[in-house]
Amino acid sequence: MHEKFYITTPIYYVNDVPHIGHAYTSIASDVIARFKSLEGNEVMFITGTDEHGQKVEKSAAVKNMTPQKFTDLMSESFRKLITKANISSNDFIRTTEERHKKFASIFWQKLMENGDLYLGKYSGWYAVRDEAFYSEAELTPEGLAPTGAPVEWVEEPSYFFALSKWQDKLLEFYENNPGFIRPESRRNEVISFVKNGLMDLSVSRTSFKWGIPVPNDNEHIMYVWVEALSVYISVLGFSSDLYQKFWPADVHVVGKDIVRFHAVYWPAFLMAAGINLPKCIMAHGWWTNEGQKISKSLGNVIDPFQLIDEFGLDQVRYFLMREVTFGNDGNFSKENLINRTNSELANKIGNLLQRTLSFISKNCEAKIPAVSKEFLDNFHEIPILRMANRIVVANSEHMKRFELNNILDNIISLAEEANSYIDHEGPWQLKTTNPQRMLEVMYTLTDVLRYIAIMLLPFVPSSAEKMLDQLAVSKDHRKFEHLQKNFAATPGMQILEPYPVFPKFVL
Ligand code: MSP
Repeated sequence: MHEKFYITTPIYYVNDVPHIGHAYTSIASDVIARFKSLEGNEVMFITGTDEHGQKVEKSAAVKNMTPQKFTDLMSESFRKLITKANISSNDFIRTTEERHKKFASIFWQKLMENGDLYLGKYSGWYAVRDEAFYSEAELTPEGLAPTGAPVEWVEEPSYFFALSKWQDKLLEFYENNPGFIRPESRRNEVISFVKNGLMDLSVSRTSFKWGIPVPNDNEHIMYVWVEALSVYISVLGFSSDLYQKFWPADVHVVGKDIVRFHAVYWPAFLMAAGINLPKCIMAHGWWTNEGQKISKSLGNVIDPFQLIDEFGLDQVRYFLMREVTFGNDGNFSKENLINRTNSELANKIGNLLQRTLSFISKNCEAKIPAVSKEFLDNFHEIPILRMANRIVVANSEHMKRFELNNILDNIISLAEEANSYIDHEGPWQLKTTNPQRMLEVMYTLTDVLRYIAIMLLPFVPSSAEKMLDQLAVSKDHRKFEHLQKNFAATPGMQILEPYPVFPKFVL
């Protein structure tokens, strides 16, 4: 069970400030990283910024700044988002750092030595916004990239990566590793893209300077994606102890727009360089804002800092993870955020906590009820505990496929069940008719709440910690291994004065 787990977010372009899409990728990765760590694994979780290329160079020019100054400034706002969104990453790497430049050059040289790079001349379409090359056939009737980005004609000397040569090897790899690309729909898209034939890829540019020079040919700089992808290794330090321990990555979390780079180019580069391939590329969907594509020109970009200030971090994290099936697109709406957090976090979970703890405060001397040993011996046979234990197992299976929202579905069902359990058992009546049973019911509820809070930790870390504080669960008993038969709420522990953890919003 105790394994190493290496997870990455994409490194973010610094041409603009962070928006909700970046926050989403980072939060989803953080949920996975925290979950894996609560399972007892040793987790390495990295993120960072992608600072080279034409797009960033142009944005710096618009601001009248040198690219270095501009990237220093912009990268900082992504670093701030890490703190603001409570992202538990272990390292933050910028592609302008020496450690990255060093490995990017080694990586290039490996491709060169193995005969996968050759010098030629590129002529074709390039979209700066996507930092991607497109063939004539891929353009829309209006002459735009398939992503809608404007394209320009580029003709320049260029090194090429012999991608075509790797077509069969890639297809064989997808075949033998069915979990490599998730979800299934993306895997099918990638396979049909590769089956349609791969062209050699232009991997260097000569028409601008903001990049890492090609070793032994300083006229050229590396194509931004070649070096950017290699960051997943440079951050560990090639051949270092960390590298030996954590590479290959267990999962690269990416948005659907950059699947091709991660699931086609990256494995081909790695095969060519003789380096092991990552185990999974998990592609999430895109968010629209109140039904509209999010774009600067439409002026509907959602600022994650403002959103968190307005609604609270855990409320935003919960909404983003709960609203859509991970992998599908989602629509952001403040009304939905309010409805979700009110009906689930406040009414189902918060209310359950309040009802339980206030009752215990008033009727059980504010202590986890003292139940008999006999009761505790058979505790895990109680239907609601059986349900809780089933969910712990099911959730760990869901996480293997990164089905994050299914995990939340299960937690919410448990809270619903616990709410019905109170109504059905009626501790208020039991107080006079059967006080011992009342203690048992309240004990059961505190333990189910402990399950709920521990399982919520990856999603809403600070609120779940508050729940556990209120439930008097000791700090070193908050891992998934404590959701087992030999751990339970400790009878007689003093609980804190209950206070609401999940506020309710008015529409
Ligand atoms: N720099 C590259 C990644 C290089 S990885 C070696 C890049 N950067 S990005 O800043 O443009 O995008 C980073 C992530 O944000 C991507 O995973 C992308 O899918 C995600 N999102 C950007 N807009 C988004 C939405 N509207 N919705 C959800 N995620 C989106 O690509």
